[in-house]
Amino acid sequence: MNLEIIIAKNRQEGSQAAFEIMKDAVEKHGANVFGLATGSTPERMYELIRESELDFSDKISINLDEYVGLPADHSQSYHQFMEEQLFSAKPFKESYVPDGMGEEKEATEAYDRIIEENPIDVQILGIGTNGHIGFNEPGTDFNSTTHKVELTQETIDANKRFFDSVEDVPTHAYTMGIASIMQAKKIVLMAFGENKAEAIYQTVQGPVTEQVPASILQKHDNVTIIVDEEAAKLIKA
Ligand code: GLP
Repeated sequence: MNLEIIIAKNRQEGSQAAFEIMKDAVEKHGANVFGLATGSTPERMYELIRESELDFSDKISINLDEYVGLPADHSQSYHQFMEEQLFSAKPFKESYVPDGMGEEKEATEAYDRIIEENPIDVQILGIGTNGHIGFNEPGTDFNSTTHKVELTQETIDANKRFFDSVEDVPTHAYTMGIASIMQAKKIVLMAFGENKAEAIYQTVQGPVTEQVPASILQKHDNVTIIVDEEAAKLIKA
């Protein structure tokens, strides 16, 4: 296991640390393919990238997941999120997000091919309160590649704040699988706030189990976990 934990004072410092990793990846390590995540956690990091001089115009981005049934131009689609958070200010040469309107077999197989042809150098991750990464909910096979998932009630409830009502939250998503994520050369997982403390504890110090999808990261050889003090509070020295 080669798992580095950075305990930042707060979200701002943690986002700054994540930004520095992205910056070094571009400027020092010649990274070409970036695995990107949605959610509120990486928003400040994206803002720092938008404000920076970094240039991604010859880079490739591959996002983790997308809601099934939301067209790319839907205000809550992850296509749209990425457009607003990053791509409008920092365009990539090619940007991939799963096609939420695509038919299952076609959409997932096409995505696996994209990942295979463009091995991810740095993968950014957030984490769900139940330990999910991407949309890989507890119980997901560690050998999974891109697939369709039924979202858990916990995830639907956590995401309903973005929709008019809970009925509008999509019930399914296409997500890169655990095996797809583990192929990345480097993984950076960010988590801020007390509601992530249990998931972070289980990820870092719990058993490696499909019940906590992020716990597989203990088996990866280049992982940096960036947390604030609240999200770190259950980690034992
Ligand atoms: C969603 C996304 C995940 C994200 C998680 C946490 O379910 N699919 O990629 O990590 O939510 O979101 P947040 O960062 O808003 O807490």
